[in-house]
Amino acid sequence: MTISTIEKSPTQNFGETQRKDFWWLEPLVYFIGLGCFLLYATWAAFQGKNYEWGPYLSPFYSPLITIEWWKFSPAFLILWIPAGFRATCYYYRKAYYRSFFMDPPACAVSEGRKKYTGETSFPLIFQNIHRYFLIGATILLCFLWTDVIKAFNFNGQFGVGVGTLILLANTLLLTMYSLSCHSFRHLIGGCLDSFKCGYQHKIYEKVSCANEHHMFWAWTSLFMVGFADFYVRMLAMGIWMDFRII
Ligand code: FES
Repeated sequence: MTISTIEKSPTQNFGETQRKDFWWLEPLVYFIGLGCFLLYATWAAFQGKNYEWGPYLSPFYSPLITIEWWKFSPAFLILWIPAGFRATCYYYRKAYYRSFFMDPPACAVSEGRKKYTGETSFPLIFQNIHRYFLIGATILLCFLWTDVIKAFNFNGQFGVGVGTLILLANTLLLTMYSLSCHSFRHLIGGCLDSFKCGYQHKIYEKVSCANEHHMFWAWTSLFMVGFADFYVRMLAMGIWMDFRII
């Protein structure tokens, strides 16, 4: 692959632009949204308690792994997979390159550094590990679906609580986030001149359709996974009561 290096004009200063719109609003919203989630997730991971209540298990702690010699929160045995998956996600790269690194702050707004070599050299070349994180995230999804099934079981009786619906919604959104992943789309039909069968093409079209809304799935699943942990935590701490629908 040819690597191109783009030199910026020496007359451009950081943040310089001819744009007259509120271009800074989008990176600001990204910064606040991602920043709040990062702070909450880090705090919740360090707690190491209040992550289960009744049939509910917080997604931050799923699957629950208990190792005798592990003295830290069990969340740390799990969270590096979804954290790596999101950190290397093609959509989130755009979001945090703009909002945290201001590199570039927005389209047609000048960045601080002098040349751009893309993600073809250290350290950004490691972003290519995303496809492997997809495998890890898919395995975690299997555990989350198991948790959803367990969330319908109240002491051996079928039941549905608000928490059941929250865990279900969370896992559905995370599934859509993974199914709309660019790497997954590539896995289905990338690098092909023609599809082997019409069935494969149909799946590719469906994945492409989900992929068009990847940003939507990224934000909604991020919000919901944080809220699902918060909901279970509030129940475990005795601050909230779970409402049984069935
Ligand atoms: S590109 Fe976003 S999860 Fe794969």
